[in-house]
Amino acid sequence: MTYTDKEQKFKRYTVTSALPYANGPVHIGHLAGVYVPADIYARYLRSVGEDVIFIGGSDEHGVPITIKARKEGVNPQDIVDRYHEIIKKSFAELGISFDIYSRTSSAEHHKTAADYFKKLYDEGKFVEKLSMQYYDEEAGQFLADRYITGTCPHCGNEHAYGDQCEACGTSLNATDLINPKSTLSGAKPVLKETKHWFLALDKDEKWLRQWILEEHKNDWKTNVYGQCKSWIDAGLQPRAVTRDLDWGVKVPIEGADGKVLYVWFDAPIGYISFTKELTSDWEKWWKNDDTKLVHFIGKDNIVFHCIIFPSMLKADGSYILPENVPANEFLNLENDKISTSRNWAVWLHEYLQDFPGKQDVLRYTLCANAPETKDNNFTWKDFQDKNNNELVAIFGNFVNRTMVLTHKFFDGKVPAITRTTELETQVLDELKQFPERIGRSIENYRFREALAELMNLARLGNKYLTETEPWKLIKTDPEYTQTVLNISLQICANLAILCKPFLPFTAAKLSSLLHLEADKWHQAGCTDLLSADTELEKPELLFEKIEDATIETQLNKLLETKKQNELNSWQPASVKNNVAFDDFGKVDIRVGTVLECVKVPKADKLLQFRIDDGMGGRTIVSGIAKYYPEPEKLVGMQVCFIANFEPRKLKGVVSEGMILSAEDKDGRLVLITPSQLVGNGVNVG
Ligand code: MF3
Ligand code: ZN
Repeated sequence: MTYTDKEQKFKRYTVTSALPYANGPVHIGHLAGVYVPADIYARYLRSVGEDVIFIGGSDEHGVPITIKARKEGVNPQDIVDRYHEIIKKSFAELGISFDIYSRTSSAEHHKTAADYFKKLYDEGKFVEKLSMQYYDEEAGQFLADRYITGTCPHCGNEHAYGDQCEACGTSLNATDLINPKSTLSGAKPVLKETKHWFLALDKDEKWLRQWILEEHKNDWKTNVYGQCKSWIDAGLQPRAVTRDLDWGVKVPIEGADGKVLYVWFDAPIGYISFTKELTSDWEKWWKNDDTKLVHFIGKDNIVFHCIIFPSMLKADGSYILPENVPANEFLNLENDKISTSRNWAVWLHEYLQDFPGKQDVLRYTLCANAPETKDNNFTWKDFQDKNNNELVAIFGNFVNRTMVLTHKFFDGKVPAITRTTELETQVLDELKQFPERIGRSIENYRFREALAELMNLARLGNKYLTETEPWKLIKTDPEYTQTVLNISLQICANLAILCKPFLPFTAAKLSSLLHLEADKWHQAGCTDLLSADTELEKPELLFEKIEDATIETQLNKLLETKKQNELNSWQPASVKNNVAFDDFGKVDIRVGTVLECVKVPKADKLLQFRIDDGMGGRTIVSGIAKYYPEPEKLVGMQVCFIANFEPRKLKGVVSEGMILSAEDKDGRLVLITPSQLVGNGVNVG
């Protein structure tokens, strides 16, 4: 039984987590925002004995996937096959406990989504509209959503998409864009008539207002409520649920060739199709009033899950609506926005490779830093600190001290309680409160608070050991030492049960070290989880320290990404104003061979060249020492130089000209050399 549903209104829970697009792997932003909290919630509900299904899967339609496929010259199916596997496997390894992780390209999904549309269509729930849509005449294709870019009419961002401006977050229609451009051919698109089906959101305003703004005023998160309110207040518009595309669920009616369901129409139906794949008894999870439906999502999904999908559910009429949609804000990485295209992310599958066996450390850090009320930041330093100063120093240390002392003094067996004091009564009083306190926080989607409480339980254990000092006590009062270690072990057992939603791998390890059988939430909060004489396993560390070098490696990886991005975004300088041919002719450029090249003493940047210029030789000083650390190797090379510069003195050396070099994208200077040997002193021009 849960702590907030005292009247037992709900008999079961349908928990969904946003379906990640299968056009890239999953990163820590997805995890902290959606999957870690959803998993904690689902695991917790199972632990309190609730009937729960936890649904996930890949979102395999949508324009970003076809664009990526096109770029790589493969089929969209190849793209989604690749990423679906990576995503599914990495979720499983992180212990995200989906009851099913399916995909929207599955046959069951196509059928379910098409049937869903067909039913609404047959019942006349859609508005059919002819409208003008952008069309690329070169590519012979309508340009849906991301196939079109242009300038955002709201903020002036020149790279806004046909469905959304990522700079200001506004959702757009392609026809709103200024200077629209096809991303297929770069061509200026033309408007062409096409037929689509629209969900009449404008007619839903009244009940949406009542349902969200009144009924859920107090239980939906402020960020979610606020976004819904501004959408509703701005006035809801009919929304097209079909597109002119060939990748997606085909529109199941006559005369709709070349049209598919809009990805945001089919994807949420995925939650339903996957439930069908999971169980033939799927309807009770979606149609019974005593089922609590909860959607875990990121903030960019709010309108779809709070307004559009509910409007679809209501239009069908046989479905329940979500009780809550606990959307999180975004997580940044090292103070910069996480971005798939800029590769600015910590990718889950890479983390799992780099940190084998440390799934719980990531789960812990992401939960502790979850962007619950505002955007938050992940840094590797903080990751290290949370591991070393919290998991190792508080949780791990308490368990380890208790286990080691029990082995040392009592042969690895749980000692029986002898006499107790006021202190044990206090400890028990506190201990009792943890299951409910942590449980309530989870039920209210305050996962950070819940995790902090869990750590307070470990702190309680540490405090108890510090106060009783069993390592000294054993000499003066071995009898009471038995009590102390018994109680400490009971706290360890409580930790094993209560940490399971957050740290499932640690919970399993700790339970097996303790030979603990109890694993239900309501069994915690007491001191008789382990009976006297239970044989314990040898102590093993639950967490290990993460060294600076490990963190350095990760930071270097990010530094490399930064450099790569700078190179990728490099653009040639704009060309200077035109000059007359005669002006160019005034500059006398020649070829010469390097006879000698040495560093100029007391000048870090300068190299002194002796050049055979075919005219008796000359000395030129050049500021490229940094790029040629072994100047003697330049001897014999031909270079180009300006021969008619006024001589000038540099660090005491007279320089008679200037050697030409190219400045590379990273600022490095590279000498220019003729592609074949030529005579010394010949003209360049
Ligand atoms: N693929 C979407 C995203 O990553 C989420 C889809 S959630 C669903 O933003 F409800 F539509 F499935
Ligand atoms: Zn904008």
